[in-house]
Amino acid sequence: MLTNDPPIPPLTSLSATAGCAAKIAQVDLLEALRHLPVRSDPNLLVGVQSGDDAAVLRLTDDLALVTTIDVFTPIVDDPYDYGRIAAANALSDVYAMGARPVTALSFVAWPMAELGPTALGQLLQGAQAVCDRAGIVIAGGHSIVDKEPKFGLSVTGVVHPQQVVTNAGARPGDQLVLTKALGTGILTTAKKRGLASDLEIAPAIDSMCELNDVAAQAMVAVGVHAATDVTGFGLLGHLGNVLRASSAQLGQPIGATLYFSAMPWLPHVERLAQAGACPAGSKRNLAFAAPMVDFHNTLSEINQLMLADAQTSGGLLIAVAADRCASLLQQLTISGLAVAVVVGEVTTADQAGRIVVNP
Ligand code: CO
Ligand code: CO
Repeated sequence: MLTNDPPIPPLTSLSATAGCAAKIAQVDLLEALRHLPVRSDPNLLVGVQSGDDAAVLRLTDDLALVTTIDVFTPIVDDPYDYGRIAAANALSDVYAMGARPVTALSFVAWPMAELGPTALGQLLQGAQAVCDRAGIVIAGGHSIVDKEPKFGLSVTGVVHPQQVVTNAGARPGDQLVLTKALGTGILTTAKKRGLASDLEIAPAIDSMCELNDVAAQAMVAVGVHAATDVTGFGLLGHLGNVLRASSAQLGQPIGATLYFSAMPWLPHVERLAQAGACPAGSKRNLAFAAPMVDFHNTLSEINQLMLADAQTSGGLLIAVAADRCASLLQQLTISGLAVAVVVGEVTTADQAGRIVVNP
């Protein structure tokens, strides 16, 4: 093959942080947003206040627009996989609102001298392959030259205004259902540090490329109280956001109990976390979450880090009324999801967002 492309270095060697672990820490983000004026628009059904996955704007009585953007640094070395994972991750924020994506735009920052146009083409092909599965076209985009690769999509979706699933509707007694295994941050960091082979992280890559579309359809069909996708802030961080947003809406503090033994883990996560493959983002997540979490004394610091692990393109975390939980699990399983498990439940609490983790 005739090409002017240089032999390309491993993509992850060009960035300091990988995937959603590159997210700005929650504590810094809250500080930065603190002084922004709060603007309101009666048609803006979901805006910045609740820290939800996407913004939702009502256009008519039966149509609302869902808009979101997600961009991150390489989490894997193969450009095609990087494109697939970034696309699935960006689409996920639309699915987490119970919405259906209709179109996307891409954003890419690319070290053209080091990586060249062929690898860029593979990246975009990977993203389009996942968008094909979602039934949408990448309709355009924007690109810049940059030392560090970055890629993502801005996705637009639609939803009936009455069917929007926000992160703010959880109620005491709800069951917490998770739809993907955890540990992508630890596994991809292990690969980057030479602690894990391609074969060992293959399940993590497959999981990150998986769409949350059927999980979203199932939760809308069954009717649930709240949902979010588990990404850069980890399970504890995103659950904390759901609990705080829901407490504010309910006007009463709510918390949650998690069962560590019920957590679905990708293979090798605990061993690799013990071997030191914990991304800085996951440590930041744990530091941020810890004051609000009561860990059972049998849970090691490694176990705690695993629960805070920064996920990329993680599953949906759904709060569903106890009497609809069996039907949700059944729908998810019939849809062919490999993971659909109850990992905890929503409780009343003395402080909004308090989480108890049982063994
Ligand atoms: Co999200
Ligand atoms: Co996101």
